[in-house]
Amino acid sequence: MLGHLLLERVSLRELQRVPEPTMAMDDPAQVEAFWECGSAAGVLASTYLFNAVQTAHVIRPGDKVLDLACGPANQLVQFARLHPDADFLGIDHAASMIDRARDTVARSGVRNVALRSGDMTSLAGLADASVDCVTCTFSLHHLPEQGSLQQAFREVARVLKPGGGIYICDFGRLKRHSTQAYFAHERREQQTDLFTQDFLNSLKAAFTLADLRRAAALLGGGVGVHQTALAPFMVVLSRPTQAAASAATRDLAMKMVSELSRAQQRDFGNLSRWFRIAGLPIPLDLD
Ligand SMILES: C[S@@+](CC[C@H](N)C(=O)[O-])C[C@H]1O[C@@H](n2cnc3c(N)ncnc32)[C@H](O)[C@@H]1O
Repeated sequence: MLGHLLLERVSLRELQRVPEPTMAMDDPAQVEAFWECGSAAGVLASTYLFNAVQTAHVIRPGDKVLDLACGPANQLVQFARLHPDADFLGIDHAASMIDRARDTVARSGVRNVALRSGDMTSLAGLADASVDCVTCTFSLHHLPEQGSLQQAFREVARVLKPGGGIYICDFGRLKRHSTQAYFAHERREQQTDLFTQDFLNSLKAAFTLADLRRAAALLGGGVGVHQTALAPFMVVLSRPTQAAASAATRDLAMKMVSELSRAQQRDFGNLSRWFRIAGLPIPLDLD
């Protein structure tokens, strides 16, 4: 991996964006493959927990949180478990995803998640300044072009209370086809071929760091833009709302990390280090 990242670092090339074949993920087989990879034993579980832990300084008890493009809700359930005193609304454009999300939420036992069909570029039905926090993971790259990315962020700025919390995470555009192929295939034995293809499509459709920075400016001040070390394989946009999380949040986070398998804990540690080297520490002293 290091070899790929070093080549990314020195490469002067820029790959053209290849938009996702479809915006909403409505194909049942695709939904199933994605849900499986995000479930407790799946390849995405450690990344989802990393994202959840990163919200420790972003989501406060009593917050109303909007999760954009929640998909099958594996990530949303992690957020909701770590913040049992906040209320979450997940929206997604795909009916099959919302159906799957309802099932995930019901099975998880969390009681602080509502779900609804919705388009992140047009948050009709949500009043101005009506939510305390917005989250969104691995979904921006589904937007067809930069104009829709900016439209989505304008909507976030509209529905969010002034200075509200933000945690957005997505892939960034890499510079080399071979690095994209490396990441998509890295865990191919543990994922279906459909997921591998989906992963590759996501990396090709990712916005550049510059696109994401430009869009982040629409969210107002205080939003940090962080990438993984050496190359923007993953990019996090975050606006914290509190300096310290509660002891209860820390205990819950430690419990959730302890529930990961050994291999997943190693992945969690690697991702945390990879961001920390680039300036985004893992909260709660978990590393
Ligand atoms: C790769 S999945 C990520 C789901 C989830 N956030 C996660 O991290 O597991 C991308 C999701 O974005 C949804 N999506 C794409 N465009 C959307 C839009 N304009 N509004 C709402 N959802 C959208 C798709 O239907 C799909 O469920």
